[in-house]
Amino acid sequence: MAHPTPHAGPLTLTVNGASRTIEGASPDTPLLYILRNDFELNGPKYGCGLGQCGACAVIVDGQPTRSCVVPASVAIGREVTTLEGLGTPTALHPVQRAFIDEQAAQCGYCLNGMIMSAKALLDRNPYPDDDAIRDALRYNLCRCGTHFEIVKAVRRAADYLRAERAHESER
Ligand code: FES
Ligand code: FES
Repeated sequence: MAHPTPHAGPLTLTVNGASRTIEGASPDTPLLYILRNDFELNGPKYGCGLGQCGACAVIVDGQPTRSCVVPASVAIGREVTTLEGLGTPTALHPVQRAFIDEQAAQCGYCLNGMIMSAKALLDRNPYPDDDAIRDALRYNLCRCGTHFEIVKAVRRAADYLRAERAHESER
């Protein structure tokens, strides 16, 4: 027997520190669709739509999350961070800066997932070794084969973040 369609109504989420509401959303809608189609946040990408590639990663309460397979209702009452919540073109987040400095991209389609997973890793482990970096990114697929540069970028990002923290503690 088919499950009844959940009632569509107002849906309020906290995204990148701001509360946002849309009307007429089904809570079963994948979070990725709400972010991209309703909130116009196009950092998270649609890759496989099956939770397998990581292109759609966002951070929900500190955890890297595949937004293509998570219903929007799971994010209610939680903090959602997308790529847009990290930095701006004129004030990049250290992880974004490190990926640019290492030129860790070819087509760039996987980068949202790589960067969001790297950020979540570095928030919980400021001193990751290469094994820890590879482990954190092991389910993020890069079809262009840029993995070597990506690991180097995460290493560099860890350096930038530690330097930033040391600088702040001296002030
Ligand atoms: S698009 Fe979500 S994991 Fe591939
Ligand atoms: S740079 Fe093209 S998929 Fe990773």
